[in-house]
Amino acid sequence: MLGFVTQQQIKAVIPAAGLGTRFLPATKAMPKEMLPVVDKPAIQYVVEEAVDAGIDDVLVIIGRNKNAIANHFDSVPELEVKLMEKGDTGRLERVVKSTDMGDIHYVRQGEPKGLGHAVLRARTHVGDSSFAVLLGDDLIDARDPLLTTMLDKHRETGATIIALMEVDPDSIHMYGAAAVEETGTDGFVKVTGLVEKPAREDAPSNLAVIGRYVLPPAVFDILERTEPGKGGEIQLTDALQELAADADGPGVYGVVFGGRRYDTGDRADYIKAIVQLAADRDDLGPELRPWLKEFAERL
Ligand code: UTP
Repeated sequence: MLGFVTQQQIKAVIPAAGLGTRFLPATKAMPKEMLPVVDKPAIQYVVEEAVDAGIDDVLVIIGRNKNAIANHFDSVPELEVKLMEKGDTGRLERVVKSTDMGDIHYVRQGEPKGLGHAVLRARTHVGDSSFAVLLGDDLIDARDPLLTTMLDKHRETGATIIALMEVDPDSIHMYGAAAVEETGTDGFVKVTGLVEKPAREDAPSNLAVIGRYVLPPAVFDILERTEPGKGGEIQLTDALQELAADADGPGVYGVVFGGRRYDTGDRADYIKAIVQLAADRDDLGPELRPWLKEFAERL
């Protein structure tokens, strides 16, 4: 049974051990989570989001090419000295920020047997507490906070909390889809069932599961016995379905997210993320925005 969980106890788990086949050959020697989104790798945005939500212990699940991620969050004294000598305080600040983000730990997945399998690798580190999972290639715009709301809802209810987003019914086959009931609170629904990557006609709704979860430790026992599902992978969605079906447990609830989200594991979405984030920035926007307008007119 879940205890009352304080923000301090919550750890974040960031699975980043997938093969990233949609980005080959860029991801042949580099995890997709290290692809730059403007001037930071995608995973740094995700770690920053966890830290901004008050979490100071982050476990990254790494696969092959693990060193790139661990090196990124390590300090590089010679680089810092060089920037200091040049008086480049802006860049120095940005470099130091990437090494100064709470406690980051790493565990290997070994073989990429699916998201459920990656989450199970966090068991020893997380122990008997609830924890947050943030997918390393799924960016939530810092201007539209989601994780904080999810942690608050978890604290209020003790339930599993997932993030949902309305998608075009033609796209639901790329996500987990949720069957839901209203709770009476806007943007907060009870999840009664989940299906991984359903055909449009089999989808219970057009509410797609996106890459943020607040999970109870009970999910580990379920994942231990979850058989490979869709795509031959151990699916987190299948374990969530079991939590949702457990009439004696606290259940599964969804926070319906209406903000800006970028799936950087998808090539078109990755490009959109870079364009949108760069165009909104004070340092790059003034140059980019007029160019984008002119470019759009030429299309
Ligand atoms: P994806 O399904 O988007 O990742 O997993 P993928 O398999 O690497 O992508 P493609 O389809 O081959 O391009 C969602 C998240 O779960 C992680 C991924 O790194 C990504 O952050 N993941 C997935 C793991 O950590 N381990 C796995 O076995 C599978």
